Amino acid sequence: MKIYFAPLQGYTEGIYRKAHHLVYGGIERYYTPFLRMEKGEPRRQDMGRLLSDTNGGVPVSPQVIFNDREELESLVGTAYSYGYRSIDLNMGCPFPPQMKLGRGSALLERPDVLREILPVFGEFDGMEYTLKMRLGVNDTTAWRGVIDILNRMPLRHITVHPRSAKQQYKGELDMAQFEELLKASAHPVIYNGELRTADDIHAITERIPGIAGVMIGRGLLARPSLAAEYAEGEEWDYRKRREHLMRMHEMVYRHNVEKLCGETQTLSHLTPFWDYLEDEIGRKAWKRIRKATTLQKYREAIALI
Ligand SMILES: Cc1cc2nc3c(=O)[nH]c(=O)nc-3n(C[C@H](O)[C@H](O)[C@H](O)COP(=O)(O)O)c2cc1C
Repeated sequence: MKIYFAPLQGYTEGIYRKAHHLVYGGIERYYTPFLRMEKGEPRRQDMGRLLSDTNGGVPVSPQVIFNDREELESLVGTAYSYGYRSIDLNMGCPFPPQMKLGRGSALLERPDVLREILPVFGEFDGMEYTLKMRLGVNDTTAWRGVIDILNRMPLRHITVHPRSAKQQYKGELDMAQFEELLKASAHPVIYNGELRTADDIHAITERIPGIAGVMIGRGLLARPSLAAEYAEGEEWDYRKRREHLMRMHEMVYRHNVEKLCGETQTLSHLTPFWDYLEDEIGRKAWKRIRKATTLQKYREAIALI
């Protein structure tokens, strides 16, 4: 079963993806956090991320969030001009500021826009598309109103997080609706949601054998070795996990210290690395890392692991 690394804004940035790829492997493809338009043009900071040399040698697809044909064309056109030949379309973002602009999961209730973008798929020669979505906005049924249009798009696969936008990232997963969508989809479907252990991955593939792969977000942040352990069919002992984690962190640390200015800014890019790792590194070190106000204190906290 193929494993895809979910996009997580503020976490799976370029150096994180690269270091993860080099240290662990086991991931079919990484997706960037969403790239967007700002003041009528592709956001400069987002485009800088696309040009970053951290993307070299890593299987990565940019993800774009958009609200109409024009925004989509502009974002895809820019990624295309930078040499990218795969793009993921965001139809799942539940954040109100994006939804208010008609982007992300708001598109689940905008079939007119989805119809309007159909010609874009033929505009960029050799570009491949995937799409990431939820089941609905206020409940888990809006997908029914757009599945026929999605089926007309030339997509390599769709990734489905079986919740509504209203639920954000918590609460019950609607597996019944997920299975209905799987039946109705003309495209391969990737499952995404709450996979934390190799047993969880085995369980979902046994329960729903029709899925084409799984996408994992927080489970990989909390246990970066998860995909490698699943591929090897064997759990890693703590010593091995820690050794790999420290190697990955060293790469992320060095990159940030070299590229960023000022301790506060550097720390703000380093500490999220540990946000989901409390169980892995222990409460004492985890708390000290979060409290560190200087790089010296940060390094002392890391030494406790
Ligand atoms: C902090 C955070 C940032 C996220 N950023 C994005 C994003 O940029 N694009 C996207 O499609 N999904 C984003 N997601 C959703 C994840 O990709 C994923 O669908 C969600 O976390 C459920 O999967 P999981 O249970 O394996 O974590 C984000 C989720 C979180 C918690």
